[in-house]
Amino acid sequence: MTRKVPSKAERYFSTGISMITSRGLHGPNVMAAEWVMQISYSPVLVAIFIHKGSRTIKNIEKTKEFGVNVASKEQTTEVSIAGGYSGSEINKLEFKNIFKTSKSHKIKTPMILGCTINAECKLVRKEKLGDHVMLVGRVVHIEHDDTKSPLIYHRGRYFSLGSTVEPDRQEIPVSKVTLEFFKNLAQEKFVLKCVGTLVEHENKILVTKWPKTGFETIPFVMPPQGKNLRDHLVKHLNGIQLHTTLEKEPIMKRLVLKNGIDMQRINFVLFKGKIKKPLKEYIWKSKNDEIISTLV
Ligand SMILES: Cc1cc2nc3c(=O)[nH]c(=O)nc-3n(C[C@H](O)[C@H](O)[C@H](O)COP(=O)(O)O)c2cc1C
Repeated sequence: MTRKVPSKAERYFSTGISMITSRGLHGPNVMAAEWVMQISYSPVLVAIFIHKGSRTIKNIEKTKEFGVNVASKEQTTEVSIAGGYSGSEINKLEFKNIFKTSKSHKIKTPMILGCTINAECKLVRKEKLGDHVMLVGRVVHIEHDDTKSPLIYHRGRYFSLGSTVEPDRQEIPVSKVTLEFFKNLAQEKFVLKCVGTLVEHENKILVTKWPKTGFETIPFVMPPQGKNLRDHLVKHLNGIQLHTTLEKEPIMKRLVLKNGIDMQRINFVLFKGKIKKPLKEYIWKSKNDEIISTLV
């Protein structure tokens, strides 16, 4: 099959590239595939999407196994040959100056050396999807090489990984006490997820005191995973007799609280609120408070 060069938006997807090894009547084979991804942790399943005209698919249908060899950035030549020729034209793995192979552990198909990941797979599912066939493999043996970096494919060209991009968070220097308070709530969680309300009155923000610590913050809770954040907050506010009308639109604040090298990441989902009667017994804090100033 001649692979049409995509001309439009499809080219803007970014993928890695794998070399799919297989074996069949005509011996072992390798093809290049960008459409490869892990689709389950337990068991570890990998899906590959292969066109029907390939030698590879015939091989896998027969032997019910394949190797996923995730290419490293040094392997552009291997990938170009694996993707540029079909096993029906030439036995690609016989190019000893191009491909270095090794025996596999749990299957009989050879694996390619110099890759970032080598996963030996047993076929568990096959499904035709559009003009390709999805083959799902259960990984029966997997190895990775920390020293290798993956090859990236984008707009028909090869790339290597660039610098890491730090997720954008607003950094707030806070006191040791404040940081300790949030770290205790987070209990080692990478990100503490909170939902709270911002109630403003005469240029001040309503705060409540936390039981035990007496720590004063805007009213918030840490909702259990999967629970609707707004409903959970409303329940909490009613529970503490803070009958509030919340605005519909949420506001997202991604913070990192810092004290020296110590830090805690927090996501605050906030709903602006209005209490029906601004009662005197509520505590109102100035907007200059170390955290509140970044929330308003
Ligand atoms: C970078 C690159 C990525 C490719 N990705 C895929 C893919 O995901 N699925 C597919 O069916 N073919 C893909 N191909 C095309 C096959 O590798 C090509 O048709 C190959 O000749 C098939 O080999 P075989 O007939 O020996 O199996 C890709 C080719 C290249 C160069």
